[in-house]
Amino acid sequence: MYFLAIETSCDETAAAVFTEEPRILANVIASQTDLHARFGGVVPEVAARAHLQRLLPVIDEALDQAGIKLYQIGCIAVLNTPGLVGALLVGVSAAKALALALEVPLVSANHIEAHIYACRLAAGREIFPCVGLVISGGHTSLFHCRSALNFELLGATTDDAAGEAFDKVANILGLGFPGGPAVERAALAGNPQVYRFPRSFLKEERLDFSFSGLKTAVLYAVHGQGATSGGLLTPEKTADLAASFQQAVVDVLVGKAEQALTHTDLKRLAVGGGVAANSHLRQALERMASNRDVELFIPPLNLCTDNAAMAAIAVEKWRKKSWAPLDLDAIPAYQ
Ligand code: KG4
Ligand code: ZN
Repeated sequence: MYFLAIETSCDETAAAVFTEEPRILANVIASQTDLHARFGGVVPEVAARAHLQRLLPVIDEALDQAGIKLYQIGCIAVLNTPGLVGALLVGVSAAKALALALEVPLVSANHIEAHIYACRLAAGREIFPCVGLVISGGHTSLFHCRSALNFELLGATTDDAAGEAFDKVANILGLGFPGGPAVERAALAGNPQVYRFPRSFLKEERLDFSFSGLKTAVLYAVHGQGATSGGLLTPEKTADLAASFQQAVVDVLVGKAEQALTHTDLKRLAVGGGVAANSHLRQALERMASNRDVELFIPPLNLCTDNAAMAAIAVEKWRKKSWAPLDLDAIPAYQ
């Protein structure tokens, strides 16, 4: 049984082919970074148009890599929420058309939950029940994941997402887009102790996050309190600011994950989303997990950032015959 999965929620056009085990046969991602870089962020209309141009070639490439033909596909999976509505609509429309034409079931899944499922895919074995931490450009959320299809939201960001903070700070420091990898590179030469940035909610019991104050603190450290421009950014200062900012984000993410483990009394932590590609964070999570005797699941880098293989969470729904109707909609907000 072969599944074809589609993901177009933001700025990656992605298609994957997997079996019901699930085993990934192809995971093709066409990044749009080059198109959005000059705007310093993802432009929704540009993203949607690029998905239109790229989706069919990406699907063809996935089928080629898997060594199968379209008629052999037995189920179409699509991540229909959350995301940019225009971008999502391209993937959802293609998925519905393919399911109708091939006369096979359509299964929809949630992009955020799929980021956690990437850990299950990479591990090749059961990871549930676990605490799930999703850290991406649009979301920073903690879940009690009882099973692949039973997620309880424990807390989320009240303003910026962790990845968004990386992108905005990269912008402030003039490091370019996408910000996460650029800040991580700059931080390598910096001292994380030089600036003492805020760690919001870290001492509180609530499992929520806030990163907008941190971003403003970096802005003021660059330009002076209350200022919006000016200030001299030497390479040394840039590196120290990047390292101190990254350390603040890592302290908060690791601290809150630890609080969620205590709160749920669980011994497994699954981390997904683009920010999970950050090596400083990965090391800090590994230390915390080993100190607490917790099993840590973090996917390899190509399964952390947006991809369609993580839509293999749809296999769990397909087994339960939980199929989506052909009037399935794209839903921009997480519900
Ligand atoms: O999961 P993802 O690919 O897309 C969304 O669903 O949002 O996450 C993208 C986010 C971006 O904000 C990007 O800056 C961040 O992940 N990111 C990183 C790193 N690589 C990507 N953040 C920190 N360190 C990285 N190495
Ligand atoms: Zn994502």
